[in-house]
Amino acid sequence: MEEVKAIPKIVKRSVHSHITGLGLDKNGKALRIGGGLVGQEEAREAAGIVVQLVKEGKLGGRGVLMVGPPGTGKTAIAVAIARELGEDTPFVSLDGSEIVGSQRKTETLLQALRRAIGLRIREERVIVEGVVAELKYVKRQTPFYPYPTVGGARITLETKDETASYTVGPEIAEQLMALNVRKGDVIMIDTETGAVRKMGKARDKGEKRFDIEMEREIEIPSGPLKKKKELVRTVTLHDIDVSVAARRVAFSGLLALFETERELGDEDRKQANEVAKKLIDEGRAELVPGVMFIDDVHMLDLECFSFLTRAMESDFSPIIVMATNRGVTKIRGTDVESPHGIPRDLLDRLLIITTRPYTSEEIREIIKIRAEEEEAPLSDEALEALTKLGTERSLRYAVQLLEPARIMAIRRGALKVERRDVEEVARIFADLKKSLETVEKFKDLMIY
Ligand SMILES: Nc1ncnc2c1ncn2[C@@H]1O[C@H](COP(=O)(O)OP(=O)(O)OP(=O)(O)O)[C@@H](O)[C@H]1O
Ligand SMILES: [Mg+2]
Repeated sequence: MEEVKAIPKIVKRSVHSHITGLGLDKNGKALRIGGGLVGQEEAREAAGIVVQLVKEGKLGGRGVLMVGPPGTGKTAIAVAIARELGEDTPFVSLDGSEIVGSQRKTETLLQALRRAIGLRIREERVIVEGVVAELKYVKRQTPFYPYPTVGGARITLETKDETASYTVGPEIAEQLMALNVRKGDVIMIDTETGAVRKMGKARDKGEKRFDIEMEREIEIPSGPLKKKKELVRTVTLHDIDVSVAARRVAFSGLLALFETERELGDEDRKQANEVAKKLIDEGRAELVPGVMFIDDVHMLDLECFSFLTRAMESDFSPIIVMATNRGVTKIRGTDVESPHGIPRDLLDRLLIITTRPYTSEEIREIIKIRAEEEEAPLSDEALEALTKLGTERSLRYAVQLLEPARIMAIRRGALKVERRDVEEVARIFADLKKSLETVEKFKDLMIY
C-alpha cells in the first residue's frame, strides 16, 4: 500500500525539537528517559493510552486536559503525542491567545478543527508502472511563443517481465520534464488522469548521476506494465472545503477569480461534509480523527468554549487536547469561577492528565538532552550551575540560557560552555521573578 501525500505536522516551537516520541516500551510503560523525554512517567503513560484511543478512533466526543505548573512538560508531551500518531494522522496546534486574538474566533477554531480531521481515501486506479528504458521529447513550435515547447514524448518502460513503448501527449511530457525523469527511474502514470509520479530510481539500473544520491532506490517492478493499483491518500476536511470553494469560484464566473480574499462559507463546508459522508458510506474512504491541541486553554472565552463543546458532539470531531497551568480562575468574558477557567459542561468531557515539578536529577537530564540538541557542549560545572538555576528559578529559564551561554563560550574562543558563561548569562538575562521585581522597583517610571 502506498502513501501519496502525508500531512505535514505543524509543530511550531523548536524548543521541543528534541522530542521524538513518548518513550514507552512495548507494554506502554515509560522508560525513565526515552523519546527525548525525562521522568513524568504517569503523564507519559496516560498519553500513551490517549494515542492508542486516538488510533482506535475511540476518543470521539471527548478530550484531554493537561494540567500542571509552568515548565513541567505539558506542551512537550502534546508534541510527543503528535510524533507517536504517525504521519497520516492530522495534528494541529494552536494557542489560546492566538485564538482570542484572531478577528473571527469561531472561524479560526472551526478551520483548525477541520484541519485536524483526516479522510483516508482509497482508490483503485489503472496505472502503468515501470523503469524508464528510453525517453525522447518531441518539440513543437507554436506561433504564440518564440521557443519550441514540448509537444509530447516517446517513452519506453519495462518491468522484469515486459517492455512497451508509449507515445504521450504534452500534458504527460511536461510532467516528465518537471519531475526530471531520466533513464533508470521508476515511474507511474495514472491512465485515467495522466498524473505522473516518480517512485524512485531502479536498483542497479541507469547510470549513477551523483556520488551522493538523494533519490530512493527501489526494486524493478515485475509483472505486467499495466495494472490495477490501490492508492491511499489522506486529505483533511479543510482540504475538501478548499477544493469545494475553488469549484464554486470557478463556476461563478471570471470576476470571482479576482476576489482578493476567498472565504470558506457554511455552504462549502456543508457540501464538503456531504462529499466526505458519501465517500465513507460507499466504503471508499475512512475517517481519521486527528488531534487539535490548544495550549493555554484558559485564555479562551465563553464563546470559544461553547463552540468547542458543540463541535465535540458533531459527526466529524477530532480529539481535542488542551493544556493549562491555571487553577480555579474566572472563565474569560464572565464573572464565573471554574476549575482551570473552563466551563463545567466541557470539563465533564475531559480526561485529565497532570504533570508534576521535576526533581533536580530530572532537570539535569533534561538540560543535558537540550544541550546536545542545541550543540552546546557543557562542562560538568556548567551543567551543575544550569541544574541549580533550573531547580531554583525554573526549568524554562535554564533551558533558555543554553543558547546565550553557548554564544558567550564562542566569544571567549572556548569549545565548551563553562560555569562562568552560565553565570554571566544568568546575570544579564532575567527570569520572570527578577523581571517582575524590576517593574516593581521602577514602577514610577513604567508606562501603564
Ligand atoms: N519531561 C521532559 N523531558 C524532556 N524535556 C522536557 C520535559 N519536560 C519539559 N521539557 C522541555 O522543557 C521546556 C519546558 O517545557 P514545556 O514548554 O513543555 O512546559 P509546559 O508545561 O508546557 O509549560 P507552560 O505551562 O509554561 O506552558 C521545553 O523545552 C520542553 O521541551
Ligand atoms: Mg506549555
